[in-house]
Amino acid sequence: MTQINVTVDGVSYADQVEPRLLLVHYLRDVLGKTGTPIGCDTSNCGACTVLMDGVSVKSCSVLAVQADGAEITTIEGLANGEWHPLQQAFHAEHALQCGYCTPGMILASADLLRDNPDPTEEEVRDGLEGNLCRCTGYENIVRAVRRAAQAGAGQ
Ligand code: FES
Ligand code: FES
Repeated sequence: MTQINVTVDGVSYADQVEPRLLLVHYLRDVLGKTGTPIGCDTSNCGACTVLMDGVSVKSCSVLAVQADGAEITTIEGLANGEWHPLQQAFHAEHALQCGYCTPGMILASADLLRDNPDPTEEEVRDGLEGNLCRCTGYENIVRAVRRAAQAGAGQ
């Protein structure tokens, strides 16, 4: 077992973990952060996306020990008293149906807007190419990200 110290959604944790434990399993099974779903076993879908020191990562392709010393933000920590502008925009634009992809879409979008606060439609589509949605056809997701950008989500 290996000791890790990690901050998740603003709370510090110190845990002994197996070196092979994936970050997504640490979040879900050790910390109970089930807002981060697992959508595939091929690192393909992006449903498990979280922010690690502000950068989006697929938490099924990161070991928990690699997050030692890092600050992780999950969908459960994104709202700060009120919904994050991306959450508000996804709601307003009906950018989800089953919602399975939504935590990953929103966190990947947060990273995208941090790099590019006013993306074009094409830039949103490029930025979210690692996140799959089987319900929406993506149109409303793209609209939501651009709406959040207009609301200053990336600034
Ligand atoms: S569960 Fe991580 S990419 Fe699908
Ligand atoms: S809303 Fe169902 S997978 Fe995206």
